[in-house]
Amino acid sequence: MTTISGYDYETATASPVSVEELNLLKASVLFGPEDEAALRKAGEVLADQVEDVLDVWYGFVGRHHHLLAQFSGPDGEPISRYLTAVRGRFGQWIRDTCERPWDEQWLAYQHEIGLRHTPYKKNRTDRVESTTHVPLRYLIALIYPITATVRPFLESSGRPAEEIDAMHEAWRKAVILQVALWTRPYAPGPW
Ligand code: HEM
Repeated sequence: MTTISGYDYETATASPVSVEELNLLKASVLFGPEDEAALRKAGEVLADQVEDVLDVWYGFVGRHHHLLAQFSGPDGEPISRYLTAVRGRFGQWIRDTCERPWDEQWLAYQHEIGLRHTPYKKNRTDRVESTTHVPLRYLIALIYPITATVRPFLESSGRPAEEIDAMHEAWRKAVILQVALWTRPYAPGPW
């Protein structure tokens, strides 16, 4: 297995979010056992399309200056080493979302991903000089493109419409729930 630069899943330390709190979040987005099953299926469908999904997402980021700026240096130029390193971890995140058990270790890495979007840890993993943080409002807004754009990839499986819907809804819930977890370091007090 090839190693993914900066992907520290196994060594991520504890999340301040408990499994009980995760369960309440799952209930809040109506994520149940049928979603878990649909997400596993989505993982199978997406497995050999991850690079194509990433092409779409990176294309989207690249077309928006305010988003690309988060991967750029003080001179305003995109840092290609940064974009490439994060891309590797982003691809793994697609697989992790669908395949990993949502247990304490998963929660710990969720916290790490949140931190990596904030001044606590952004830029540190890849040793780059870029913006201090990704504005929280963009994190929330990107839920839409990150969910809408996977649909054609799920459809390419040729599975029945109800199955596509179920996979897509499970993916949507999974992304919303994770972004909710990533807000934790942005709002430590009133979270
Ligand atoms: C890192 C997902 C929103 C910029 C990451 C990583 C993932 C991810 C999986 C890699 C985590 C790791 O290190 O293992 C998402 C999702 C988003 C979102 C699902 C919204 C639903 C955004 C937005 C921006 C952004 C709006 C702005 C352009 C970045 C940057 C990194 C990163 C710059 C690298 C952070 C670092 O220095 O380690 N994101 N992200 N993300 N994301 Fe996001």
